Amino acid sequence: MRDLLSVLEQRMPEPTARGLVTAVTAAIREGVLPPGTRLPPIRTIATQLGLSPTTVSAAWSLLARSGTIRTEGRRGTTVTDVGAIGTGRYRRALQHTSEFRLDLSTGVPDSRLLPDLRPALRSLTTAGTPSSYLDDPVLPELVDVLADDWPYPAAAFTITDGAMDAIELIARTTMRFGDRVAVEHPGFPPLLDLLDALGVEAVGIPVDEAGLDLPALTAALQSPVAAVVLQPRAQNPTGVSMTEHRAREVAQVLSGSDAVVVEDDSAGAIAHDPAISVGRWLPDRTLHVRSFSKSHGPDLRLAAVSGPSALIAELTARRHLGQGWSSRLLQRILLHLLTDPRTIDQLDHARREYARRRSAAVQRLAEHGIRVAGSDGLNLWVPVDDENAAVVRLASQGVGVAPGAPFAVLPDQQRHVRVTVGLLGTEEQSVIDQIAAACRPGIPSIIR
Ligand SMILES: Cc1ncc(COP(=O)(O)O)c(C=O)c1O
Repeated sequence: MRDLLSVLEQRMPEPTARGLVTAVTAAIREGVLPPGTRLPPIRTIATQLGLSPTTVSAAWSLLARSGTIRTEGRRGTTVTDVGAIGTGRYRRALQHTSEFRLDLSTGVPDSRLLPDLRPALRSLTTAGTPSSYLDDPVLPELVDVLADDWPYPAAAFTITDGAMDAIELIARTTMRFGDRVAVEHPGFPPLLDLLDALGVEAVGIPVDEAGLDLPALTAALQSPVAAVVLQPRAQNPTGVSMTEHRAREVAQVLSGSDAVVVEDDSAGAIAHDPAISVGRWLPDRTLHVRSFSKSHGPDLRLAAVSGPSALIAELTARRHLGQGWSSRLLQRILLHLLTDPRTIDQLDHARREYARRRSAAVQRLAEHGIRVAGSDGLNLWVPVDDENAAVVRLASQGVGVAPGAPFAVLPDQQRHVRVTVGLLGTEEQSVIDQIAAACRPGIPSIIR
């Protein structure tokens, strides 16, 4: 302990929170504080280094927000294993301990419902090869097609390698270390990991049946918020779609702030609720992202982003420092898929089939006395008595579901598991009875 304190003392340029942050990060970089090192209690450090407990606490909160250290209940505060930074929640949500007969933990679309890519691939030629690395990164014909089917008249569009690529780019461009960003509770684990990795504080806003909870959003805005990230429809994990009324109210609440609105429409064309965007009321600071992963295939790795011209130009410029642009070959495949009548029919079928699967599962759970929220998408957010017991019990029966904890931003009284019922064909629907029994072991099954 003494050694550790002198290590910090030697590296502390000034007796402030910033100084202590500098000392800890320098000691980690030099390998003097290896991952997993347990740090002394705040009071001990304060006394030994001649700082106030408030100063140490401020330094700790900065280090925690950047993911450098972690506070884990009785284990105390430890230096984070950097190799594990950034994907903690994601891995916890999806980690597999066994092979499943039926894996409903994944959130992925049913490959049987994805459109046939062969006609689009056959249509490709070598035309359209860029003449410069600084060419417009988006096919103009694709922008025209997107603009015709967009929830608001957006000023500009770009294309990214999927929704998470867009959100990471947006986060790196619009958010700074220490910023507060409002996010949905429960929310999407990779988004929470991303904010953690950037040292951005995620402020949880509960989601109800109509979207973001307005009083909580209003309260969060009492202090500056750099951005609000929301899923406008088929919210993952709850399946909630924002109503038009709520979207207008959210826009009204936000009009008193200068927060950027980031909308992640990950279900895109497989959602049966209409596309909706706060951009209708706040076009000058809304970035609306639509993924084509669920509708056209996760391996196409494409999403479209709309926003005000200046912000889209900033994203494009930032992207030139990395991958530059999303392949125009893939953009041309997407253009073909979005305009081809057969593909449009296949997508109509997929949308109806996902809606049918979801409502069959919702109805079956209701017969067991289990009510689930939401109306759309691939997932059900199922309340459980004991989350870990439900996950383990289903795993022992060969069924994978995702634990709810990695999706939580706020402390929750009610535990949940996320079940990707979009993967359940008619012949597999009876697994819902097993899920109900695992989620409510105390309640006798009504269905035999
Ligand atoms: C809410 C949400 N955002 C983003 C993604 C990732 O989308 P993409 O494959 O386009 O990166 C998903 C995928 O499940 C998601 O559910």
